[in-house]
Amino acid sequence: MKRILVVDDAELNRELLRDMLKEEYIVEMAADGEEALDKLKIYSASLSAVLLDLQMPKKDGFSVVIEMKRDGWLRHIPVLVISGEFAVEVENQCFELGVSDFIRKPFVDSIVRKRVRNAIELFSSKNQLEQKVEEQEQIIKIQEERKREEKSFNRLMMEYKAAIMGVETRLKVLNEEFSQEYNRNPFESIKSRLKSPASIYEKLERRGFPVSVESIRENLTDVAGLRVICSFPDDIYRLADLLIKQDNIILLRRKDYIKNPKPNGYRSLHLIVDVPIFLSHEKKYMKVEVQLRTIAMDFWASLEHKLKYKKNVDKTGAIEARLKACADSIEALDYQMQEIRDQIDSEGSGHGL
Ligand code: GTP
Ligand code: MG
Repeated sequence: MKRILVVDDAELNRELLRDMLKEEYIVEMAADGEEALDKLKIYSASLSAVLLDLQMPKKDGFSVVIEMKRDGWLRHIPVLVISGEFAVEVENQCFELGVSDFIRKPFVDSIVRKRVRNAIELFSSKNQLEQKVEEQEQIIKIQEERKREEKSFNRLMMEYKAAIMGVETRLKVLNEEFSQEYNRNPFESIKSRLKSPASIYEKLERRGFPVSVESIRENLTDVAGLRVICSFPDDIYRLADLLIKQDNIILLRRKDYIKNPKPNGYRSLHLIVDVPIFLSHEKKYMKVEVQLRTIAMDFWASLEHKLKYKKNVDKTGAIEARLKACADSIEALDYQMQEIRDQIDSEGSGHGL
């Protein structure tokens, strides 16, 4: 049952109204303006209507309406003024303040009930409508914000893509040159990848960084990634040095996991570089992660990588141990192959090899 508040200093009026309305509503009562405001404070959220006398001791009906308006209640609860005689100015003043309707004395049962019901229904549909509009506005705001973010995220990804292309081209040019001048290719293949939005989000969250386009630019160094697969370990260092020596490329970090392998046996040379990209209106530096490794190291890393995504596998660490042993064998193999190549190069120099 809905709850209403009847405010009148005349007990007889209160009783009369309560008798008319008690079958449909829980009827709260107040004998003056102050008591009315107290009850409003207690029941405000659950009150469906206030029936309010104008002339009362302590605080009159006008003051009650004014305070209800000030505190925002008038937007949610309809007020029906009850009074004996009406001057047009009083009625006007009430409507201007936001009163919903009037109930005149003497009270007629059916009319009182209809007016109260009407006021409540009108207010509830008005409130629902307002709420819907507000929700709609909120949704539009969120969508606009998302669109803006999506646009700047896509822009950032385009910039990273440009940076990948730039570094890839530099490396490919070196490869071409070596192939022509020395008849050999310092690398076998290049793979590139843009970190996926899901991985970007996951990494920002995991490291406690804010999730925003600016934060990606500032905090992540591996959104643009290049993997360069070389035949021999010395190609890795030669290529890395040649790349870093070039103009317009800044080495931010170098991690040599070949000289200092990770405990699991992982070996690769990692470079984080800052490279410029040239856009229509600006030149911008972007971070790119370049991983250089041999074919054998890559073979190992891709198998070892699978282990990370397998839960519950190998609780004893047996696979880790075997992988570590393989990493050691691969290290030995890489250098043996390199030595053999050197031998072939020196012995075969006279035979056009
Ligand atoms: P991430 O947060 O994983 O990027 O590590 P990091 O920022 O500390 O940099 P690190 O140089 O250690 O690793 C960079 C990247 O190298 C990783 O994202 C992997 O692609 C690769 N990597 C590093 N360690 C391993 C490893 O033990 N196994 C494999 N398979 N790949 C590795
Ligand atoms: Mg990484």
